[in-house]
Amino acid sequence: MPLDNEHLLHENSIDPPKGFFERHPGTPNIPGGWEEYLKLYNQSIENPSKFFGEKAKEFLSWATPFTDARYPPGNGFQNGDSAAWFLNGELNASYNCVDRHALKNPDKPAIIYEADEPNQGRTVTYGELLKDVCRIAQVLTDLGVKKGDTVAVYLPMVPEAITTLLAIVRIGAIHSVVFAGFSAGSLRDRILDADSRIVITSDESLRGGKIIETKKIVDEALKSCPDVRNVLVFKRTGTPHLPWVEGRDLWWHEEIIKHVPYSPPVNVRSEDTSFLLYTSGSTGKPKGIQHSTAGYLLGALLTTKYVFDVQGDDILFTAGDVGWITGHSYVVYGPLLNGATTVVFEGTPAYPDYSRYWDIVDKHKVTQFYVAPTALRLLKRAGSKYVQNHDLSSIRVLGSVGEPIAAEVWEWYNEYVGRGKAHICDTYWQTETGSHIIAPIAGVSKTKPGSASFPFFGIDPVILDATTGEELKGNNVEGVLAIRNPWPSMARTVWKDYNRFLDTYLRPYEGYYFTGDGAARDQEGFYWVLGRVDDVVNVSGHRLSTAEIESALIEHNLVGESAVVGFPDELTGSAVAAFVSLKKDVDNPAEVKKELILTVRKEIGPFAAPKLIILVSDLPKTRSGKIMRRILRKVLAGEEDSLGDISTLSNPSIVEEIISTVKRDA
Ligand code: WTA
Repeated sequence: MPLDNEHLLHENSIDPPKGFFERHPGTPNIPGGWEEYLKLYNQSIENPSKFFGEKAKEFLSWATPFTDARYPPGNGFQNGDSAAWFLNGELNASYNCVDRHALKNPDKPAIIYEADEPNQGRTVTYGELLKDVCRIAQVLTDLGVKKGDTVAVYLPMVPEAITTLLAIVRIGAIHSVVFAGFSAGSLRDRILDADSRIVITSDESLRGGKIIETKKIVDEALKSCPDVRNVLVFKRTGTPHLPWVEGRDLWWHEEIIKHVPYSPPVNVRSEDTSFLLYTSGSTGKPKGIQHSTAGYLLGALLTTKYVFDVQGDDILFTAGDVGWITGHSYVVYGPLLNGATTVVFEGTPAYPDYSRYWDIVDKHKVTQFYVAPTALRLLKRAGSKYVQNHDLSSIRVLGSVGEPIAAEVWEWYNEYVGRGKAHICDTYWQTETGSHIIAPIAGVSKTKPGSASFPFFGIDPVILDATTGEELKGNNVEGVLAIRNPWPSMARTVWKDYNRFLDTYLRPYEGYYFTGDGAARDQEGFYWVLGRVDDVVNVSGHRLSTAEIESALIEHNLVGESAVVGFPDELTGSAVAAFVSLKKDVDNPAEVKKELILTVRKEIGPFAAPKLIILVSDLPKTRSGKIMRRILRKVLAGEEDSLGDISTLSNPSIVEEIISTVKRDA
């Protein structure tokens, strides 16, 4: 629906701070402010082909111009399918991120690397990045990687992670990054599903002063991946104790010097796949979310440019990992497509102490800082003294991502980090959306603490009644969030499973993309994302599926059955609780609980470990055998008075036992 001022009252919201403009080096990217946003937004909704066609011509470099901006022409999801964008056009992602800037300005910093240990980083210019990307592209070609092949990436946050991604897309191949906190088992599953034959990793990783034996995890995973031909290993720590498989394992530094500093990019068509990124959904099996090339690039480019108001000389610090979509779009692609400088930070916000982020901002004069609320909660709790003694006056935009940001955390961010002079942008989006879909435009949109505010260009959000699917029109409504029309950076499919893509996103509510989130539109038209309505929990901004954790638990030989639910946690947003019934009585339940936690850490990764394990003799089930997780959630929240009718359960008496066990253990 077009937006107009009549339906968007702004009495209870906050203006873009004046300090944003005082700190601004020139003209904001939407100079006409709110009125211009409304005009552009309405154009983008009424005629997406024209709007995005023009933007794609203006901001992307094409080897072959596209003929049609959208297929099928028109608008909306037609016949239950999604759309394709920029037909017959050819381009290369690494050319758009690197070459075109390196050709003009080779000495400009592309990457500022902040190593885990302070003062051990370095800067990589666009010119240097181009050489490295070209050389690694040739290494990959030598290893037999061809257009359309997938390459698995399991790397820490070092500049070489960016080089790797761009080298892969330079030869038209597909990167499949696996967050380096995932276990060997999770890595194995992703390598097998994507059929990757080459893995790029490091000897070890460093985080918060701790060593992680990255390559050993890869070796473990590869025991069950017979098709992997080579492992390219970046030397991060130089440990002398590195297991090595002759013929398979190759050192990055030995391979890279064999090649000349330039090789031409392999152009691909707009709709050719640029990457896969696995994410959790309602079932135990992670989905390989598949993104296109041109549409994805345009989404990352435009949101970085407009939401964060990135100017050519800006320095963006996205404190997210390249293993998640935030790292893909706002550490790698968005900043580089705009020719800006991106900060690659290897460490944690708490090492060597809680002022690490602010040291980095101060030292490098960061202009846009972007992080998940979970880190802000930690830093707020640590105390304002860590922020106060830093010069943070370079910051114009403070972004938030991954989970709702509570009002008091928003206020803290605004006051202590932004000092009232930065625009707070709470950005709502998903792995599947590729780039921000609901977010304030810096310097333009009014904001309310906790609301992601208004849709980005080309996004037509609707609130639906969860049960009937009926669209809830007007303001002051609450339901599930869906999008009425396709946009360029949305995922194209689930790898090798278009049917699953349709089932998950396009079929639940016919004619819409279903986000899986609940949301409200308040009396002034602001959007508030309320959290997942499916079996996904968001722990410290990491997206986890309860079903996946249940499948991990069942690997332990004592586990009969389990049900995993999320529950609110002050620090991590949500935490994981696992209700487990064991196959037999045990003498030492505390020991078993420890083992179960270890099992999840081993099967998925440390970040998925349950905070709470509750051993019960049975789980509440319907007569058809379905576990009633709703009851477990309520008991955990202490809402046992509002369990509703439990007499329809096949085993209603178990509820009393669960309530008393939770009271005792939780
Ligand atoms: C949640 C992360 C509230 C949401 C970019 C979504 C948010 C899921 C916000 C996607 C926000 C993301 N406010 N909730 N600003 N941003 N979410 O795929 O539940 O890791 O569906 O992408 O995070 O997580 P994903």
